[in-house]
Amino acid sequence: MAEQWQRRRQILKALTEHQGFISGEELANQLDVSRMTISNHIDALETLGVEIFSVKGKGYKLQKAVPLMDEKQLLEAIQGRCFYFDEIDSTNSFMMKHASELKSGDICIAEHQTAGRGRRGRNWVSPYGSHFYGSVFWNFPQGMAQAMGLSLVVGCSLVTALEALGVSGLAVKWPNDVYLNGKKLAGILVEMSGQADGECQIVIGIGVNFVMPSSSAEQIDQPWSDLVDMDIPSKTEFAIAFHQQLVADLKVFETQGLNPFLSRWQQTDLYKDQVIRLEMGENHVEGVCRGIDEQGGILLEHDGEVKSFVGGEISLRPHS
Ligand code: ATP
Ligand code: BTN
Repeated sequence: MAEQWQRRRQILKALTEHQGFISGEELANQLDVSRMTISNHIDALETLGVEIFSVKGKGYKLQKAVPLMDEKQLLEAIQGRCFYFDEIDSTNSFMMKHASELKSGDICIAEHQTAGRGRRGRNWVSPYGSHFYGSVFWNFPQGMAQAMGLSLVVGCSLVTALEALGVSGLAVKWPNDVYLNGKKLAGILVEMSGQADGECQIVIGIGVNFVMPSSSAEQIDQPWSDLVDMDIPSKTEFAIAFHQQLVADLKVFETQGLNPFLSRWQQTDLYKDQVIRLEMGENHVEGVCRGIDEQGGILLEHDGEVKSFVGGEISLRPHS
């Protein structure tokens, strides 16, 4: 299995470094394998979501860049344990399964998820190498109540880390998204196990789009964005910087709660002072978005009164 991934990485490297098309024969010679082996790996990469032009008589060419992590750089720089995979079902599932063996700050990163998840079981589109998929473990000794509003902290961490790498045009959308130029760039999925009042284990999953392949874009049923036009150093440097920022922010959150994050949220709130709609199953309410409170609730002003709404079943939508 490991050899298969090594070969696929070698093929991607050759395709990335070659100007224009490269023939199957040349690839086979470079890697010292048969043309059939090359063709099978190209097929496998396409199944994983990598888009490769294939022209008879000319050979192969990548449609878009595939920004794979530099594993050595990643593992050397991450403080704590880092589990890095080419393919996994879901980085969140991996961390939930191993929760009892983990320490706060441990991270799992994958290049491809076969069952990437969003909130309420929705699919998270996860083509190979194209994006960042990671999950960080954190232990909250005082139970779930202590972790209320956590996804808002993670949104702030993401914005801070990306801005430090030179990205502008970012905004947070309550409760678990980061937008770039008004379209969804990243999603956050917080999952927990443990008792309501006893120790609780949290897994924080983050997906950030780097270079979206067209075939993956077709699977997303809402406007999306990626970092392709942003001059970010690399996906590896993002992962290292973001992990560092998140760990620092979680330490603050653990002792001081959401209070230190309220103004950071306010500065980049996508719908600040705009009329929005909160959908809760069959019901909905409308009002002006007035930011968040210390419990992580969204503040909605209606008829001169400001009320807080909180709960995993709520979806925020712009007023139509
Ligand atoms: P809400 O959380 O407010 O209900 P949402 O539509 O963003 O709204 P989520 O569960 O947070 O829902 O996210 C999952 C949704 O994100 C999917 O249904 C899909 O529309 C979108 N999506 C899936 N993969 C990606 C991706 N790689 N990039 C951007 N958006 C994606
Ligand atoms: C959302 O917007 O609903 C949240 C999307 C979270 C996606 C990330 S990708 C890494 C981690 N593993 C998963 O299966 N989901 C999260």
